[in-house]
Amino acid sequence: MRILVTGGAGYIGSHTCILLVEAGYDIVVFDNFCNASKESILRVDKIVGKTIPLIEGDIRNKEDLTRAFEAYAIDAVIHFAGLKAVGESVEKPLAYYDNNIYGTLILCEVMAAHGCKSIVFSSSATVYGDPHSTPITEDFPLSATNPYGRSKLFIEEMLRDLYVSDSEWQIILLRYFNPIGAHESGTIGEDPNGIPNNLLPFIAQTAIGTRACLSVFGDDYDTVDGTGVRDYIHVMDLADGHVKALDKMHTFSEVMTINLGTGKGYSVLEVLKAFERTSGKNVPYVIAPRRTGDIASCFADPSYAQKILQWRAKRGIEEMCKDSWRWQSSNPNGYKC
Ligand code: NAD
Ligand code: UD1
Repeated sequence: MRILVTGGAGYIGSHTCILLVEAGYDIVVFDNFCNASKESILRVDKIVGKTIPLIEGDIRNKEDLTRAFEAYAIDAVIHFAGLKAVGESVEKPLAYYDNNIYGTLILCEVMAAHGCKSIVFSSSATVYGDPHSTPITEDFPLSATNPYGRSKLFIEEMLRDLYVSDSEWQIILLRYFNPIGAHESGTIGEDPNGIPNNLLPFIAQTAIGTRACLSVFGDDYDTVDGTGVRDYIHVMDLADGHVKALDKMHTFSEVMTINLGTGKGYSVLEVLKAFERTSGKNVPYVIAPRRTGDIASCFADPSYAQKILQWRAKRGIEEMCKDSWRWQSSNPNGYKC
């Protein structure tokens, strides 16, 4: 079975490619490298011991996608490609709607034109907005507070409409919580552009000395120690969730919406301490004001994924931190030499 992996050179995509190949899937990576480097795929090639076909192209470009579908008989798509920076999405909403929503629309058109109607889509826990309680189940109310989140909500709706119009489509919406960590080899990992927005890359860059000090955004939330609580999930567990989703896809007769999280929340300070313990590094921090748009607490109820995919996250916070540190310390400049 041949899978087209859009955004396959990115953080989650590259890790997922490894498990797909190991599970026996043939894959083709499709990426425009707007937020990734070809080096990530070369390193994946080394890990899996074969050359993964790569098509450089943009999901908004019909010709690029058609090239991929004409060169390979694609059975299903895992659709990671998209822009993901919340702050940037507020500054450039049209760029986000264009890339994420319009890009997905073109992708679906080209898929349909080639008789490929199976898609696994990267959604996000951001679609739950500020949840009324935790843990979060898939039937919680949905909302968005920024263009990035709205693009995910819209794409979910678009894909549901597509299924209503044509029930031959097989659609799985995976709502990720907070992916961190890296492949155990330490050769691939998260390589953010510029100053990281997310917690773990910021901690790791502070530990290596690229950043002077972590700002902890708020210590007056109603949480265990006042700092924000999130459901951090090892990127390899997340990748495994995609393989399980693909394996089961043909058994579903409706659009499936599935949380991928661990079900356990950790505060910023708990993550910081776990990172210090596993890396042996001291990470200086200051308490800073709350970040606009942040919520106190967000973690999944992952029981539906367990029931429907027989999947659950296996790795704990220490392993996540250890693997993040292995990647960061062996690649202080990410994929740039
Ligand atoms: P990433 O930026 O590392 O990967 C996205 C990839 O898509 C990159 O390789 C980029 O070059 C490519 N891309 C972007 N626009 C494209 C286009 N128009 N055409 C072709 N390729 C394009 O991000 P990631 O962390 O791996 O996230 C993957 C997906 O998961 C995204 O859709 C993201 O919104 C979603 N997601 C991520 C997180 C997270 O915390 N990382 C959480 C929830 C959901
Ligand atoms: C953020 C996005 C979310 C996106 C997710 C994954 C916002 C408001 N939300 O989620 O839409 O799906 O990333 O890409 O940007 N923190 C610090 N100091 C830092 C960085 C973070 O204290 O330098 C804290 C945050 O306040 C939060 C926790 O660490 O409590 C996690 O932050 P982050 O990694 O940015 O993830 P989210 O805010 O959950």
